Amino acid sequence: MMQVGFPKDFLWGGAISAHQAEGAWNVDGRGPIKRDYLILDKKTGKRLVTYVDENGNHCKAALENGPQLPKGCHYACFEDCYYPDHDGNHFFEHYKEDIALCRELGFKIFRLSIAWSRIFPKGIEEKPNEKGLSFYRDVFRELKDNGIEPLVTLWHDDTPLYLEEECGGWQNRKLISYFDHYALTCLKEFKGLVKYYLTFNEINNVLLFLDMFNGNATDEMYRKAYQELHYKFVASSHFVKAAHEYDQDVKVGCMICGVPFYPASADPKDIMLSLEYMQRGIYYSSDVLCKGEYPDFARKLYAKHQVRLDISEDDLKDLKEGVVDFYSFSYYMSSVVTVHQSDDLVSGNFAAGVRNEYLDYSEWGWAFDPLGLRYFLELINDRYRLPMMIVENGLGANDVLVDGRIHDDYRIRYLHDHLSEMKKAIADGIELIGYTMWGCIDLVSAGGEMKKRYGLVYVDKDDEGNGTYLRIRKDSFAYYQKVIRTNGEEL
Ligand code: BG6
Repeated sequence: MMQVGFPKDFLWGGAISAHQAEGAWNVDGRGPIKRDYLILDKKTGKRLVTYVDENGNHCKAALENGPQLPKGCHYACFEDCYYPDHDGNHFFEHYKEDIALCRELGFKIFRLSIAWSRIFPKGIEEKPNEKGLSFYRDVFRELKDNGIEPLVTLWHDDTPLYLEEECGGWQNRKLISYFDHYALTCLKEFKGLVKYYLTFNEINNVLLFLDMFNGNATDEMYRKAYQELHYKFVASSHFVKAAHEYDQDVKVGCMICGVPFYPASADPKDIMLSLEYMQRGIYYSSDVLCKGEYPDFARKLYAKHQVRLDISEDDLKDLKEGVVDFYSFSYYMSSVVTVHQSDDLVSGNFAAGVRNEYLDYSEWGWAFDPLGLRYFLELINDRYRLPMMIVENGLGANDVLVDGRIHDDYRIRYLHDHLSEMKKAIADGIELIGYTMWGCIDLVSAGGEMKKRYGLVYVDKDDEGNGTYLRIRKDSFAYYQKVIRTNGEEL
């Protein structure tokens, strides 16, 4: 029978990640991660990494997600710099207050990530850090006591720094077993508390990122990206298998950065190009995680960059046996690609392309495309036929306090339009089981800015780290609360 409106047990909620929210970066034994060394360059608005070179000089460079530090250099924090992720939004101290706000909103589910380096500071230890475990146990219990189901991401761009610097990061097969140990520890320690897990956040970004080089990414960069992805796919499949064996109640999802790629014209070359973007950027990762095998077109992708994967028979078996239970993804925008010359280029959230004349763009240049969300849901449903969850979506905007209030009607409109498309998709037969809007409580954006805010709740902190961290409900708070109360009847 056709579903009218949102299913009655629809999982409404919000999402945050550890390094963007928790703060307390060096408290209770948490080990460092690369992001702890990122500052925001006020002049360019870009993130820079700080490090010392082999002669002890203090250096800053734009290396985020890019190549490793030069030989002989080490990540370092400098006293005259501000590191936004060191404080996040103080979730570490404020989590009870934040969870109370989530309850007031009516959340059924709350997505957060576990910081690997709180549990295993270097990533190689045998025994977990008890203080890290107890922090998350307290958070999960608090959520449960408030009637909210935790949705836990195991990796949100926060590999322990030791593994990156000393072991070569995800280019090293050993990372799989270090991750296995961490992930299985979580599974066991949080049994009964956590029912929903996601393995790697926006796992496909490794490839999407290379497209942002506009054709200038080297073969070597592609080879590394495909290898890193393979090890992550295998690690993900190990966790899914273990979860299914260990606890029948646990469900595991993938986490794909969901960007539909549109052709800029009806030129068949543009159509073909947009297909290639979808294959490389979206389907390659999704197929392995959801179908348990590499797609046929993988051969074509590898040939382009002479990729030879380190891959074993056991890996292939594990991938087959460890497919996810549901398809989860983030959705912020669509992207337009063309083979033709264009000067009007735009980019956002790991997708670059040309401007879409039919769409509006946010202050940060991200396309506003609610219908693109429905289009993506349809594509994915056709291909995988799995229950789906949208685990990130939202509007990053520069909210301004007026008489102590935030009148974010633009965010209400954004939510309204995206939720309306979700409702239509459900009516068309899509099995959508949940929605966690991104950054429900203002947090540090991936680009390091505090002023790019996503929340329903404002957090008093600026880009220099000044502020009281006071939480203030925005107008969108009441809107989303009503949506949840009426189970999406009133949008
Ligand atoms: C996703 C990430 O890519 O987009 C989040 O999973 C991130 O960590 C979000 O914050 C929004 O991006 P940004 O750059 O606006 O914070």
